[in-house]
Amino acid sequence: MLFMGTERGRRDAGPAAGMLAGKVAVVTGGANGIGRACCERFAEEGADIVVADILDEAGIDTIAAVEKKGRRAAYMHADASSPTDNETVMQHAVDLFGGIDILVTAAGIATADYRSDQPAAFAKRAAKHAREQPDPMRRFTELRLADWQKVLDVNLTGTLLAVQAASRVMLDLGRRGSIITIASIAAKHPEAGAPAYSVSKAGVWMLTKYAARVLGPAGIRVNAIGPGFIETNMTAVVRGLPDLEERLLSDVPLGRMGTAREVADAALFLASQQSSYFTGEMLHPDGGFYTD
Ligand SMILES: NC(=O)c1ccc[n+]([C@@H]2O[C@H](COP(=O)([O-])OP(=O)(O)OC[C@H]3O[C@@H](n4cnc5c(N)ncnc54)[C@H](O)[C@@H]3O)[C@@H](O)[C@H]2O)c1
Repeated sequence: MLFMGTERGRRDAGPAAGMLAGKVAVVTGGANGIGRACCERFAEEGADIVVADILDEAGIDTIAAVEKKGRRAAYMHADASSPTDNETVMQHAVDLFGGIDILVTAAGIATADYRSDQPAAFAKRAAKHAREQPDPMRRFTELRLADWQKVLDVNLTGTLLAVQAASRVMLDLGRRGSIITIASIAAKHPEAGAPAYSVSKAGVWMLTKYAARVLGPAGIRVNAIGPGFIETNMTAVVRGLPDLEERLLSDVPLGRMGTAREVADAALFLASQQSSYFTGEMLHPDGGFYTD
């Protein structure tokens, strides 16, 4: 496992100030998009950050951005769907920074062949699949088991493994932590995503509520964020097809996509004491998608 933690960050971290002063956050999928925005936003509010991802270059870039904000950071190459990788990430957070107060599970894929570092190639493949098989009924009935499994492994099982590993540490250390899962509007809306994706996010939402119930008595809060259409590499495919973008945005009263920073602001609220009486809840930064 590649591990990067910089000496400069460790030496220079002064006394923390802000809504998350002195807290330690682990962010899976922290190399890009929403996960990265959470890392930066949390660092601005005084948290030290452990980034877990499979994109080493982007992950190392994230820790450099965190350090520029004056906080400590470490990156670990860790596959969200691996139990051992999740264990190791959490152990590193304890060894380096003394524990875990916040977990964000942002690692996720749209389809089995999605690659966050190759948005253009993915958009091209997706457009080709849509041309070859325009019928959504057929796309559903012909969905391959291996593709279904891969999406569930990363999005749903990956969330479970991170929540288990982080909450074990929180329980062992007696920390009243905050866990934030990243679901989607697709968790409650079957048409908003591909079948495996929607089902994986519905699972994340139920897992969040389940974990909130069992971990609540220990003071560990577990909430979800269900973003709408957010400008990240994952939605490059939408932005590349103006007709599709227009159709999707016609369901969004604010009439635009959201930014990763706007999702990170919701995550900051859930990570901080501002949300001390929230657990088992899902916030929707979605521009009004759920107004009906
Ligand atoms: N962009 C949107 O419109 C949107 C909407 C709702 C929910 N989401 C969810 O937000 C989360 C972040 O997505 P994003 O939009 O920032 O996309 P993104 O592609 O920018 O970020 C996803 C991150 O997850 C990482 N990742 C993927 N597979 C991994 C694995 N096996 N192990 C570890 N890391 C892995 C990627 O490398 C990347 O850094 C995802 O769970 C996604 O489903 C996104």
